[in-house]
Amino acid sequence: MPARTRCAPRAPRRRARGQHGRPARRTVRRTAPVLAATLVGALLAACSPGGDATPSAPVEPHVEVFTWWASGSEKLALDALSSTFAEQHPGVRFDDAGVAGGAGSAAKDVLDSRMAAGDPPDTFQVHGGAELADHVAAHDLRPLDDVVADLDLASVVPETVLAATQVDGVTYAIPSNVHRANVVWANTSVLTAAGLPPTTAFASLDEWFAALETVEESGVTPLALGADWTQVHLLETVLLAHLGAEAYSGLWDGSTDPRSAEMTAALGSFSRLVGYADQERASLDWEDMTFRVAEGEAAFMIMGDWALPAFRAADIPIGNDVLWAPAPGTSGSFGLVVDAFAIPGSATNVDEAMSWVSTIGSAEAQTALSSVKGSIPARTDVSVQALHPYQLHSTAALERDELVPSLAHGTAVDGATLQEVTRAVGAFTEGRASVAQLQRALASALDEG
Ligand code: GAL
Repeated sequence: MPARTRCAPRAPRRRARGQHGRPARRTVRRTAPVLAATLVGALLAACSPGGDATPSAPVEPHVEVFTWWASGSEKLALDALSSTFAEQHPGVRFDDAGVAGGAGSAAKDVLDSRMAAGDPPDTFQVHGGAELADHVAAHDLRPLDDVVADLDLASVVPETVLAATQVDGVTYAIPSNVHRANVVWANTSVLTAAGLPPTTAFASLDEWFAALETVEESGVTPLALGADWTQVHLLETVLLAHLGAEAYSGLWDGSTDPRSAEMTAALGSFSRLVGYADQERASLDWEDMTFRVAEGEAAFMIMGDWALPAFRAADIPIGNDVLWAPAPGTSGSFGLVVDAFAIPGSATNVDEAMSWVSTIGSAEAQTALSSVKGSIPARTDVSVQALHPYQLHSTAALERDELVPSLAHGTAVDGATLQEVTRAVGAFTEGRASVAQLQRALASALDEG
């Protein structure tokens, strides 16, 4: 299935985690007296009247699923998946190992520690693209091509989406859904109160800047913004608007010079946007940003379409009180975010984990998930007619638009590069670095990556 794409992820950078990234095997040496004592103890326990010689009860089949869909609308999305799993695999208990925090901001570190400690979950959420490639380089993941064949995913999932779940032609994750990153959302009451037309359709950043200025004059915060990754998310959208799909994508494969004058101009726009943004952003995650817009405390927000269910949960009619559009200057490009599930090679409950990823790839789970997630199914053979009008738009856009990899959501660069970028952006937004320093820091992060 053809899809226009600029999504080739850059090669992963090996993490500082020892040879092959695997934890050192722990060797336990037992001395002879210790062994003897252990044996005697076991015999005594088996022979004494109170000793427990009966075999322990069989363990109920279960699967431990690690995600960051652990609160708010995202928890409802995970619930939709676990309910479908319960219907398809009634004998297997679902164990939720979720760690809350937008975009995996807290979960990714926990996952890394568990992997390093040799205590992996049975299956985990991962972004398709460079983030997955990074895991494949650092850990042993289970190839999932059999699942792709069983579900015939190759004929129903767009090529670019499927490619994001493969490394060197081997599938390591099953895609659950597709999000679009470059979306602008706005509260119409705030716009009209400021004397603006109720629209989010800005053809250029300049048009948007004029609207932001008007909102500021009305006394309302023009742009909702949060901490860390939400700032990188804003940055990627501005880079896309300034550079266009081709040069933006070239940043991640080395064909676009991050030290160029166009890049300086893009960072100048980013700086201007930060000037219009929430001052108390350090404590805000994406859901807080969404509520700020929903409640009219901020006019606009750039956020992926996982915001759709959060607005709906706040009881705000989308398309009436809240408007959406491709982020200013990025119409025709689709910032690709692929959610998927992988299985560590050393997972304990492999059969159950295989059942989980089979459910993930099923039409039922994809419909159930996207209906509460704001995304669209990765499979194109499921009906989207019952989804929100925004999602119908997104479905058409995925087919029609130029697909570009998201920086903040693991499609474009590996984890170490993203951490460097996030640090550089944080230093800038906290006033510890100039635009020139930000540009140098970004360039050196990309050089090293
Ligand atoms: C993205 C993820 C989405 C959503 C979002 C906010 O990285 O792909 O599914 O969870 O973060 O947490």
